[in-house]
Amino acid sequence: MIWRFNFGILTDMKKTILSGSTVTGDLTLGNYIGAINNWAKLQDEYECFYFLADLHALTVYQDPAILRERTYSFFAQYLALGLDPKKNVIFVQSHVPEHTQLMWILTCLTPMGYLNRMTQFKEKSEKHVKNINAGLFTYPVLMAADILLYQADMVPVGEDQRQHLELCRDIVGFFDNKYSEGILKMPDAYIGKMGARIMSLQDPTKKMSKSDENDKNFVSIIDDAKKIEKKIKSAATDSGTEIKFDAENKAGLSNLMTIYSVLSGKSIQQIEQDFVGKMYGHLKVDLAELTVQTLSPVKAKYDDLMKNKDYLDQLMKSGADRAQVRAAVTLDKVYKAVGLHR
Ligand code: TRP
Repeated sequence: MIWRFNFGILTDMKKTILSGSTVTGDLTLGNYIGAINNWAKLQDEYECFYFLADLHALTVYQDPAILRERTYSFFAQYLALGLDPKKNVIFVQSHVPEHTQLMWILTCLTPMGYLNRMTQFKEKSEKHVKNINAGLFTYPVLMAADILLYQADMVPVGEDQRQHLELCRDIVGFFDNKYSEGILKMPDAYIGKMGARIMSLQDPTKKMSKSDENDKNFVSIIDDAKKIEKKIKSAATDSGTEIKFDAENKAGLSNLMTIYSVLSGKSIQQIEQDFVGKMYGHLKVDLAELTVQTLSPVKAKYDDLMKNKDYLDQLMKSGADRAQVRAAVTLDKVYKAVGLHR
């Protein structure tokens, strides 16, 4: 009876969503749109953990001063986008040592063959031939530790991270088989209503990505007005003239129309009507202006936050403290289960 009662309470608890972002590049207009569509809703329905994966960033050489500054910058960008540090747990990965502690245990459970199969490892080692370090190889195990420490139910991941999430699920299986079940929670991919998918400005068949090497492909949320205008005006479009949504044949134009629609709140049909008889250039000019207007409060908030590193330090610390409460419970159970003295 009592057991059933407890179980009832447990199932009423909010589920956990966890998402990490490697500290490279800057957040983009695509992130902005994802954020306004999702965060407010997610933070009420779920317990949300967001962290900056600074340890993952180290798998590719980072200039120490730049990494340090960029970690502040990312933290400030998340806050500027409206992520509420009271309603969500926002923290920096390296501030919670349990990540690397759990990683070691999981590393000892992960067959080399599984890591060899990871397409991102293959791609990255081709790209960084001079620095194929072991961290690049064990990267997905650290990612598994990130997820499993928090008993995450769901992880919103893009296509490029799906295989890593699958590996994480395999690792839960290995742990269950060798030690005990019920200690690590099996995570699922979170397929939210992502709303609009924002594509690269120069190659609209690819998603807009913050780690794109060509910075003309994305608008960063902290780009200044001039840069935004330049990037949108030089976005690749087809050689047609009619402003009509056609994702297949006019992918570039359609992407701009999607962005316009999300930022203005107008439907695609409305936009088509507004631009009857006008040229692509008109749309670009209007969209550039709208984007600058939309992002300018974000940029202002960002600039403000970056002037106050003490405040950022404080928030990072309280986020890490809250994260650690949960992480320590999992690590303790895992250490005991594998036979380590506690
Ligand atoms: N590897 C992810 C990326 O590059 C970032 C990441 C690290 C992550 N740990 C995670 C994402 C845990 C989700 C869950 O995008």
